[in-house]
Amino acid sequence: MQTSSPFKRIIDWLDQRMPLTQTFEYHMSRYYAPKNFNFWYFFGVFSFVVLALQLVTGIWLTMSYSPYGETAFASVEYIMRDVEFGWLIRYLHSTGASFFFIVVYLHMFRALLYGSYQKPRELVWLVGMGIFVVLIAEGFCGYLLPWGNLSYWAAQVIISLFGAIPLVGNDLAEWVRGDYVISDITRNRLFALHVIVLPLVLIGLVFLHMVALHHVGSNNPDGVDIKKHKDKEGVPLDGVPFHPYYTVHDIMGIAAFLFVFCAVVFFAPEMGGYFLELPNFEIANPLKTPEHIAPVWYYAPFYAMLRAATYPFLGLDAKFWGFVVMFGGVLMPAALPWLDRSKVRSIRYKGVYTKAMLAIFVVSFVMLSWLGTVPPSELRTLMAQFFTLMYFAFFMLMPWYSRIDQTRPVPERVRV
Ligand code: HEM
Repeated sequence: MQTSSPFKRIIDWLDQRMPLTQTFEYHMSRYYAPKNFNFWYFFGVFSFVVLALQLVTGIWLTMSYSPYGETAFASVEYIMRDVEFGWLIRYLHSTGASFFFIVVYLHMFRALLYGSYQKPRELVWLVGMGIFVVLIAEGFCGYLLPWGNLSYWAAQVIISLFGAIPLVGNDLAEWVRGDYVISDITRNRLFALHVIVLPLVLIGLVFLHMVALHHVGSNNPDGVDIKKHKDKEGVPLDGVPFHPYYTVHDIMGIAAFLFVFCAVVFFAPEMGGYFLELPNFEIANPLKTPEHIAPVWYYAPFYAMLRAATYPFLGLDAKFWGFVVMFGGVLMPAALPWLDRSKVRSIRYKGVYTKAMLAIFVVSFVMLSWLGTVPPSELRTLMAQFFTLMYFAFFMLMPWYSRIDQTRPVPERVRV
């Protein structure tokens, strides 16, 4: 009789009680991913890496951070100076926040390039949009915690925006703050959201994101459905098992990513005031408004949209419309699966209109990012209005230009 190894016996024991091997096969060794994944397909796994990093470093920071009163600011100083490797944990976390947005923005852009939001991946996209919104809220709550002067004033600006909603606005803003002004109560509740509620929601959404993706299968740079051509065993001819092919491939990508990430953590954690802003090294002071209140770079495009609304309309003041445009800008991409009427998925086979509109979108997003970080002037406000219009035009005109665009024939099988 052949005896099995202790490892195999443990796995058998577990398999009889839960679908361990079955789950591994379904999601890894028998999950057939298109063999033509390119550079853009690294950003999903990088998002995973940064999520894990943020969770681990966040737990360690919470061990030494104090959310109460004046001690909030002091506890961050204490982490930086006295806690063993506290500076490293904090820089990993603060750099991780910026890198989270870098990788998620590029991950989303990949979906725009290859039409990954189109049928049957609408739910993957919508759950992704849920992740994006929660990520924005998570970053916002975290930003208040060091209780620096910009933390305070950024919260002041954003929470007071709720006050612009007609009728219920002021009550809503007070409800969000938990007080008449930004206070310890506000910080404590944002702390609870930042360390418990939102990370749990994020993990839940990422889980759903993967379940939905693996149910329909991954898209690829050609936008071709690999399930159309299968061998006798039902294995897609243009697919390779995710494990070991893409696990090994991703490990190499992660190593390269960590080199870049660590270079920033060790040599430029403040990134010239873009990752950690200089006024935030000063304690929160309700009596001292910073000369120029600018959000961290990753919120800047939406902040520029907020400031672009300068006219009252329909009897409602400009602040209200700024609020609408800003949230509209964040949520607009959720409609993409229904706005894109193109017959093809990938940009490779789309026509000149779509390519031009995508280029306009990218330029608008980059310009708005810049405009959101610099002090406003008359010219800059005009520019912000123009690029906000262009940003929305990319989405709103899509049903039209994606339908009339001259697409190119899509190959039957993926090109490698
Ligand atoms: C914590 C954040 C996120 C994580 C960990 C994550 C993870 C992943 C992973 C591992 C994949 C498969 C590999 C790949 O295609 O790159 C994927 C695919 C996808 N993700 Fe995400 N994602 C996140 C956020 C988002 C967001 C914010 C969106 C969009 C709003 C999004 C939309 C998509 C889409 C459409 C796909 C399918 C792509 C395709 O098959 O071409 N994801 N995601």
